[in-house]
Amino acid sequence: MCGIIGYVGAKSANDILIAGLERLEYRGYDSAGIAVTHDNLISINKSEGRVHNLKTKKLDGTRGIGHTRWATHGSPSDRNAHPFTCNENKFVVVHNGIIENYLELRSGLIHAGISCTSDTDSEVIVHLISQAYNGNLKDAVCKVIKHLQGSYALCVMHKDTHELIGARNGSPLLIGLGNEENFLASDASAIIDHTKDVIYMNDFQVAEISKDYVKVFDFDGIEQQHEIKKIDWNLEQAQKGGYTHFMLKEIFEQPAVAQESLNVNFILAKDFSRIIIVACGTASYAGLVGKYVLEKVAKIPVVNEIASEFRYKECLISERDLVIAISQSGETADTLAAVRLAHQKGARTLGLINVVDSTIAREVDSVVYTRAGPEIGVASTKAFISQLITLYKLAFHFTDNEMNHSIVDKIAETLQLSDSIRKLAEQYYECQNFLYIGRNLSFPLALEGALKLKEISYIHAEAYPAGELKHGPIALVCTEMPTIAICPQDTVYEKTYSNIEEVKARKGRVITIATEGDERIKNVSNNVIYVPKVNNILYPFVIAVVLQLFAYHVADLRDCDVDKPRNLAKSVTVE
Ligand code: F6R
Repeated sequence: MCGIIGYVGAKSANDILIAGLERLEYRGYDSAGIAVTHDNLISINKSEGRVHNLKTKKLDGTRGIGHTRWATHGSPSDRNAHPFTCNENKFVVVHNGIIENYLELRSGLIHAGISCTSDTDSEVIVHLISQAYNGNLKDAVCKVIKHLQGSYALCVMHKDTHELIGARNGSPLLIGLGNEENFLASDASAIIDHTKDVIYMNDFQVAEISKDYVKVFDFDGIEQQHEIKKIDWNLEQAQKGGYTHFMLKEIFEQPAVAQESLNVNFILAKDFSRIIIVACGTASYAGLVGKYVLEKVAKIPVVNEIASEFRYKECLISERDLVIAISQSGETADTLAAVRLAHQKGARTLGLINVVDSTIAREVDSVVYTRAGPEIGVASTKAFISQLITLYKLAFHFTDNEMNHSIVDKIAETLQLSDSIRKLAEQYYECQNFLYIGRNLSFPLALEGALKLKEISYIHAEAYPAGELKHGPIALVCTEMPTIAICPQDTVYEKTYSNIEEVKARKGRVITIATEGDERIKNVSNNVIYVPKVNNILYPFVIAVVLQLFAYHVADLRDCDVDKPRNLAKSVTVE
């Protein structure tokens, strides 16, 4: 979480930093700030809230650093906003990550007569660099980072010199290579309109960049080789393209994404005894769908683990297991930790990752890219569809059958329901609670639908396997709590139908997602959203689209900030 950027060149650093931070806002938007040097002076513009607040002022200078924050230590406020400067205003630092031993470091500073002005873990870094500085900024950074415990990506600047220093351990950082200008950034979206040539930094690396050169070192200051890579997507893909929100644009991109993801291929022998899927949030729900499909189609036993739990429980895996990590960003700290744990236990790892060359993509034994393209909306939509396609392709890889490509058209057909789903949302958007139910493949969809609704509209939504209702949650059913029932005409249709009847019998209002032509379902539903008829195992694709659109329209009608929901960040790089 948090986005950082650095610029050194001949242009106005102010504009480049602010534009870059706006693209990094998906990583956090509690506060924002930039620092720019001019005439050997550092000027800072920072405040609580969004990046656009910085636009009221313009700082002169052609070298600077910037930050957009997702608060961990210290509330979102002006005083906790980055960049932080040292007492003499000579050095300035922005930080993404968590410094776990900051209290100890801070008390050392207090002993030395240095006081911190913020409640953050990050501020200690700038004071330590100021103490360690002996004429060479890179050397001072190398010295200080040896004392930091935790995770970090840093950009550091001195008021007098010509360079910027970056350092990485556990949080992403890349170098952008321009023409007489260079960049540091948490990810490529921040700099894509300036350059497509990047160096992805590894953990335990320090970068020194100036207008004219880029050097990469290890933490001991020894220069290292680096590889320049080309970013294979463009600025247009990271813009709204006429849609009111990125989320809506990304929902509508799904037919194209599905088509693209269908091109993924696996080179993988079935020489493991079971699969363990590790992931968080939406990616974990894709993994749950994957379990049903891998078990049904490929007859491979699958265990699903939420990465943040997996890493702290008894880990009974071995070299006979294949651990699959699913992640859009490829940076999720818990998923990354699960991969590292799997390696320690000798298991093989496979990553299903969207962001090319992200940390998890580079750490797994093999990676298959899910090909959703840049996903900017904080709520994951097209990445989910691409994860599903990839998991289905994996399941079919172990059989003699091919995955049916007609799903692309069915997704496109389902998108045409957007206007009617908005009308339905108009009836329900003021409700405070929702129940989502489904069985079998539709249960993970219920989980995903409830997550989408709660994260962008702040409505409480619970998801249950429909058969579990009678074991407790049915007590919640009343006219004020509508139920979204997922009931396509698949193998569990009759069972789910009965569960819906149970809700109706208790005066619950039911919105059912059903298969087109199913007239009977109207008997137990207040409203029906009909999805196209597809093969039994393909229903998740069309149902996901309906759930996304419903959540989107409800949130929009409630005037919520759909692309940047409160308290969230897209890339969760802290535990
Ligand atoms: C929800 C959402 C999150 C992510 C989760 C994992 O809409 O986006 O739940 O799915 O934080 O992120 P990745 O896939 O980047 O590991």
